[in-house]
Amino acid sequence: MAPRGGFSSRIGFIAAAAGSAVGLGNIWGFPFEVGEGGGAAFVVIYLMFCFILCFPVMATEIAIGRKTQKNPVGAFTALGYKNWNWVGKLGILAGILILSFYNVIAGWAFGYIFEMAAGHFGGGEQFGEYTLKIFKVGGYGLAFMATTALVVSRGISGGIEKAAKMLMPTLVVMMLAMVIYSLTLPNAMDGIRFYLVPDFSKINAGVVYNAMGQAFFSLSLGMGALITYGSYVNKKENIVSAAALITLADVGIAVIAGLMIFPLIGFMSGGTMEGAAGGPGLIFVTLPTIFGTLGSIGPVVGTLFFVLLCFAALTSTVSLLEVPVAYAVDELNIKRNRAVWIVAGIIFAIGIPSLLGFGYSDFFSTAFTTYKEGGTDTDFLSFIASLANDSILPLGGCMIAFFAAHVWRKHNLDDELAEGSPNYKGSFVQKYLNFAVGYLAPFVLAVVFVLTVLFKFFGISIF
Ligand code: PHE
Repeated sequence: MAPRGGFSSRIGFIAAAAGSAVGLGNIWGFPFEVGEGGGAAFVVIYLMFCFILCFPVMATEIAIGRKTQKNPVGAFTALGYKNWNWVGKLGILAGILILSFYNVIAGWAFGYIFEMAAGHFGGGEQFGEYTLKIFKVGGYGLAFMATTALVVSRGISGGIEKAAKMLMPTLVVMMLAMVIYSLTLPNAMDGIRFYLVPDFSKINAGVVYNAMGQAFFSLSLGMGALITYGSYVNKKENIVSAAALITLADVGIAVIAGLMIFPLIGFMSGGTMEGAAGGPGLIFVTLPTIFGTLGSIGPVVGTLFFVLLCFAALTSTVSLLEVPVAYAVDELNIKRNRAVWIVAGIIFAIGIPSLLGFGYSDFFSTAFTTYKEGGTDTDFLSFIASLANDSILPLGGCMIAFFAAHVWRKHNLDDELAEGSPNYKGSFVQKYLNFAVGYLAPFVLAVVFVLTVLFKFFGISIF
């Protein structure tokens, strides 16, 4: 077999997979979803989804990847079920869609490094004007995509693994420092209350669907990113404990991001928490305003923050690009380097409408869809996010779980999970995973998928 490359160590794999999981989804997405979902009640539902449903699906994806040593499409074929490989194709489509808009936001973040360094702390107005300068932000986006492509073209252990091992720890230290600072501000506790004390009257169907979408997105599940990374993992690796660590790391970073941002919103709003539901612009508006109050260290802290955000985003864009690239290399026999640049170019182009949808083009900003969630106008980026994150990922997760338990069969899944984990068989974890992958996840995910599609795209709400 031609060498596909692989992770050189356990820690390398965990860093890369955690790097895939930890990204804009945690630091940009999670706080704004919490804000829009009404605070702590969203957090509770989100955490339940992550640990009860997503963790078993994660172990399953990695196991399928390691067993087959293939990309998500080739994996189903390699197990002997070619007629299931549409699930892999759907995953690749999701990856392409996600990267197309993800790169737009990463591009914004990249440009904000320079805005911060220059001491531009203008808040909402500044951000609004910034997203309108499409050649500038488009250029940043292009640079970000090119960087992603460069890492992916270097392969697994030399590019992806090395980058992740360096970037992840730095990110954590930096975020903790920011948490400590924001907790010292006046009205910080109002933010903490909003974030951590649940008010279950705020929960409605839409909140539940978004929590599910966010959990899948944040954990990089449902589209085969972890099948792909799993394909580079060796047989000595304990998949179950790796999946647990990755889940914990991802949830941990999201929780820390909230601890960083909500006290700041508490401070800025004078305790009313107005502005918490700031949507996609939240961290580009709230945080810079705070950095502006720090005096001479503001530009330093601001610059550092966006540098780290870009690093976190980079380890995720790398995993997103790796999925279609692995497919092109394994299935279409295209050389890695070529595949990387072609695929990256196509995905950048697909992202252009998302780039234009923040006021530059009326069509992509509002007129494009008006049916979502019972008639509110939606920009193109949010539309793609609803389609990919909230719909395709849970569907993919449902299918992967169902496939593993009932088509490939539980004992095969168990055998793969037991490799590198001598105590797995007969353990409580095994029993739980069997139940979750076989019944709970397929059922819950199928229901959530149908309800989400009806609600988001047809405005029909059953609950
Ligand atoms: N999990 C990443 C984030 O939270 C995004 C991602 C989704 C990456 C799906 C890979 C696959 O930013």
